[in-house]
Amino acid sequence: MKARGATGGGQDRKGRSTRGDANPVGSGPGPDRVVVDRGGTRPSDSRRTRTATVVGVSDATHLSRTQATYDAVAEVYAERIGGELADKPLDRGLLQAFADLVAEGGGGRVADIGCGPGHVTAHLAGLGMDAFGIDLSPGMLAVARASHPQLRFEQGSMLDLPLADAHLAGIVALYSIIHMPADRLPTVFAEFARVLAPGGHLLLAFQAGDDDHTHLTRAFDQAVDIDAYRWSPEHIAERLVDAGLHVTMQMVRDPGAQESARRAYLMARVPEDAR
Ligand SMILES: C[S@@+](CC[C@H](N)C(=O)[O-])C[C@H]1O[C@@H](n2cnc3c(N)ncnc32)[C@H](O)[C@@H]1O
Repeated sequence: MKARGATGGGQDRKGRSTRGDANPVGSGPGPDRVVVDRGGTRPSDSRRTRTATVVGVSDATHLSRTQATYDAVAEVYAERIGGELADKPLDRGLLQAFADLVAEGGGGRVADIGCGPGHVTAHLAGLGMDAFGIDLSPGMLAVARASHPQLRFEQGSMLDLPLADAHLAGIVALYSIIHMPADRLPTVFAEFARVLAPGGHLLLAFQAGDDDHTHLTRAFDQAVDIDAYRWSPEHIAERLVDAGLHVTMQMVRDPGAQESARRAYLMARVPEDAR
């Protein structure tokens, strides 16, 4: 998971929530540093592997491991990550830019896919967007609904979204593709392209790395069983283009004080003349 993700997160010296790198893989400090940042994962708990694809893991196995992991960490994740945007002006700026772009395109429904505890969904709603959340994990959805009872959160997988074609004006997917094996990314991005209306916008965030992954057995103080990937922005941009999206922005920032990996942000858009 990422400094966000099943990798932990903790609190800084002022007691503010920090996002453990959801994806403890890739560039920057080695796994021991990752462990420290995640607040609980020990070096012996993770294996770094420079192979982007986990061979032989079915969708059912992958999804059930991901769901079980996030069910287990949901409450601690929400405690540590749910307030993160207060300390992340760049992220808030990107979310505001995303909201402005969607509004300029005429507005419409926006899905926060892999919404976790729903804090980003709530932020989007606070910017005036018609936002709702989708997540695989019932545990995360329960936390999101309890924290934001005025908003709608639905269970679903980004591999097979429970949405009609061209239903959305926008998708935000922050740190939710980080457990997806490389060979499933084309399906995820084809789903994003399918449910976005022509002209619709996508904002993605993930830990930047060298297209490698780590297997985690402990995160957010819980026993877990999950792979976490760090992608190069170029790799993700190519997959988005393959899915028919136009990549409009790529940004990489250095890790913050409590983060072990660079953060990548991509925006993409479905062409106006699509379909
Ligand atoms: C690292 S958390 C990110 C949560 C939130 N977006 C954030 O920024 O804090 C990853 C989230 O993605 C969800 N997720 C992972 N795989 C998914 C899938 N195939 N479909 C939908 N949600 C998924 C997990 O359940 C988890 O809540």
